[in-house]
Amino acid sequence: MTLDFDLTEEQLMIRDTVRKLAQNEFAPRAAEIDKEHRFPRENLKKLAELGLMGIPIPEEYGGAGCDFLSYIMAIEEISRACASTGVILAVHTSLGCFSLLYHGTEEQKKKYLTKLATGEWLGAFALTESNAGSDPSNLSTSARLEGDHYIVNGSKIFITSGGEADLYVTFVRTGPGRGHKGITCLLIEKDTPGFTIGKVEEKMGLNGSRTTELIFDNARVPRENVLGQEGEGFKVAMALLDGGRIGIGAQGLGIAQAAFDVALEYSRQRVQFGRTIAEFQAIQFMLADMATRIDAARLLVYRAARLKDKGLPHSKEASMAKMYATDTAMFVTTNAVQILGGYGYCKEYPVERYMRDAKITQIYEGTNQIQRLVIAKNLLRG
Ligand code: CAA
Repeated sequence: MTLDFDLTEEQLMIRDTVRKLAQNEFAPRAAEIDKEHRFPRENLKKLAELGLMGIPIPEEYGGAGCDFLSYIMAIEEISRACASTGVILAVHTSLGCFSLLYHGTEEQKKKYLTKLATGEWLGAFALTESNAGSDPSNLSTSARLEGDHYIVNGSKIFITSGGEADLYVTFVRTGPGRGHKGITCLLIEKDTPGFTIGKVEEKMGLNGSRTTELIFDNARVPRENVLGQEGEGFKVAMALLDGGRIGIGAQGLGIAQAAFDVALEYSRQRVQFGRTIAEFQAIQFMLADMATRIDAARLLVYRAARLKDKGLPHSKEASMAKMYATDTAMFVTTNAVQILGGYGYCKEYPVERYMRDAKITQIYEGTNQIQRLVIAKNLLRG
């Protein structure tokens, strides 16, 4: 791996600790988790034991107090071993923990952030609806105030960790009319009366991660669970996604690295026409393109993380990193399957799983077409 030259001792220590854990414990059971569609509770338990469920959250709230880049490298290493565990941790941290850290009151932080950052609770992020995917400003789940409670009605779809999470950072319409104004963010606990889990999706990949519908039928949420200002929820969501997208870029990077490692090793072993396939220029060119794109993706992802660590604007850079790293994940995993040929298409090798897992990274936390819109908007704004 490259880029070690300017990582601090602490960053290297976190990366190497997580790499060891992920390779020794998560990688060996990743195929089984995929096959059985099993939520990887045991992995989350291990992460919690090691204090890794709130890597970039200050110690006073139960986190590890590390910088964002350390967290990003952890997501990369975990996704390299088990991409399902990678997305669960990424959504929990970037969208769950950070929503509270940035927008929570002191009481909300004490009540919820400490539970999330220690791994006692798992966090989820509920923005998407059937008619509000790429355009979340069109969401229609409503919340009307009745005394000191909001009464929530509607449904959410495609929610990562639905049914497994304990706290749902949920976006609802509290104001009149349409559009992004009048959207509010509510913290909704798993056991809230009137809140149930609906359809569980059957997916192409990332089968260890649970993806479900959420149903709110006159769910009663205390008014004190408003996160940030009432009516300002859309901006809360957008700002969180700026950080979240760096995490998904890191997930793509980890999947790409895993696929590349297998393809490189296989090409050195596989003999055809009397020599290893690595000796053929056709394979060498593929490997060269794969490695170059992985390095470029890593530079973009780490740059975006560094900007965030410095408190500098990073919306454009996060979108560039997410788009490029996840397109790279699809490119590299598809080529890895090709290099392994018939074996690559079979479950005996992990590359077909990597390819299935990679596909969703181009779609969630904003499709790569949406990332291009964000990049262009930032460029044109000057
Ligand atoms: N930070 C803070 N505020 C922001 C912002 C940001 N990054 N981006 C926009 N805003 C603000 C704007 O300043 C504007 O505010 P004002 O009215 O005060 O000027 C307001 O938000 C509306 O901005 P836009 O007009 O740019 O918004 P838009 O409706 O055109 O949407 C979009 C822009 C980029 C397309 C946005 O809708 C988007 O990101 N769509 C994709 C949605 C998405 O990523 N969903 C992911 C679901 S979560 C998930 O996938 C998690 C998982 O399970 C893995």
